[in-house]
Amino acid sequence: MNKIISKKQFSEKVFCIEVEAPLIARSCRAGNFIIVRVDKNSERVPYTIAKADPEKGTLTMVIQEVGRSSTKLCDLKVGDEVADIVGPLGTPSHIENYGTVVCAGGGIGIAAILPILTALKKAGNRVISVLAGRTKELVIMVDDVKEYSDEVIIMTDDGSYGEKGVVTVGVEKVIQREHVDKVLAIGPPVMMKFTSLLAKKYGIPNDVSLNTIMVDGTGMCGACRLTIGGKTRFVCIDGPEFNGDQVDWDEMFKRMGTFKNEESLANRAAEP
Ligand code: FES
Repeated sequence: MNKIISKKQFSEKVFCIEVEAPLIARSCRAGNFIIVRVDKNSERVPYTIAKADPEKGTLTMVIQEVGRSSTKLCDLKVGDEVADIVGPLGTPSHIENYGTVVCAGGGIGIAAILPILTALKKAGNRVISVLAGRTKELVIMVDDVKEYSDEVIIMTDDGSYGEKGVVTVGVEKVIQREHVDKVLAIGPPVMMKFTSLLAKKYGIPNDVSLNTIMVDGTGMCGACRLTIGGKTRFVCIDGPEFNGDQVDWDEMFKRMGTFKNEESLANRAAEP
């Protein structure tokens, strides 16, 4: 069992939860993820690690209520426990000094990109972070991102924070202004697709971190499989980061909706 140590609410449906997981906190690296089972009857859901504190033995996750299991997790209070956490999973991010890297984070994808941009900055890169959300409350962890970025550009759909516009507007401004060696995008699949296409248009190598459905997270069930560069790859062990130019985005969108009906049935069954 893993105890919840602290909990903050970022917006109506987004929560930041710090949970005890000493072994994972000591061994995880940027880009790793975990799979959480809230209780014995819950599905196994992958979450990114926003922060790991090896001394305290805790992990910080940012969770958006989208389905039954994430809602159950967000309903827990400080002192409650989750049934189990498996990790660290996935292949860690490839970190090197590329030069100038644009890190584009959308919504809770900002929490996922935070450890990676931190590692990129520590490796000597010039890090320009472009953070985006529909509204101000959905642009999270700005101070954490600022600490490890040379510049932070904020974009909101409604203009309530930073500049008005989608993430690609901010990314393109940087690309047109200066030489960019690499683009990394993490957020909703549609945001990653268009950021990747934009980088491709300018001939810039780009990576995305895919958030497919997962079950075991160790390459055995096949739930996370996708076609990348014409080959079947497992997001849980071969990823979650891939060259965005090679992702079959149509397949990605189709697979994301696989359990839509079951998800809405589970939500309806839980209604009072
Ligand atoms: Fe089962 Fe990747 S989650 S193979």
